[in-house]
Amino acid sequence: MNLKEKFISICKQEIHREGLDELLAWLEKSDFYDAPASTRFHGNYAGGLCEHSINVFEQLVKLYEIYGDGSISRESLAIASLFHDVCKINYYKQGTRNVKEDGMWVAKAVWEVDEKVPLGHGEKSCIILQWYIKLTMDELLAIRWHMSGFDAAVKGGDYGLSKAQDMSKLVTLLSVADIISSNLLEETRK
Ligand SMILES: [Fe+2]
Ligand SMILES: [Fe+2]
Repeated sequence: MNLKEKFISICKQEIHREGLDELLAWLEKSDFYDAPASTRFHGNYAGGLCEHSINVFEQLVKLYEIYGDGSISRESLAIASLFHDVCKINYYKQGTRNVKEDGMWVAKAVWEVDEKVPLGHGEKSCIILQWYIKLTMDELLAIRWHMSGFDAAVKGGDYGLSKAQDMSKLVTLLSVADIISSNLLEETRK
């Protein structure tokens, strides 16, 4: 089973919410299954975003077995993890950068950011998802704040993150699953 098939099979097995088929149809038309997860860091290669989303799901399920209290459904774990980074869909483009190799300048293919919908990071994922499926408060809070202390609003002095963490365990658990996946499991290609 390739990554795309694995992603779709997890979605169909774990999520039964109205609108899922429309959301999957939109993913199919988008670059989701071919996009990287970043330009220079984890998963910076075609397919990296889909791979990252599956990794975050698997890590979140493990974390919830240890730290969960049974109040959050398996469906919410799946939605929050598999779709937390939909803000990165149709967001990267391929470009070139000149690098020196053996004393010669050569054009190397690189991924670049091409933001066409500047609505924030977690905020944008929430907004896009709500076009297709209705999110619960736990899912909204977790997806909105999944960047945790790296979120631009937190850096600017916003206190919403700690309030969100008090309101839902999923906020902390999703951000930790995200960091474990990107920092410990995923490759960065030079
Ligand atoms: Fe993210
Ligand atoms: Fe992520």
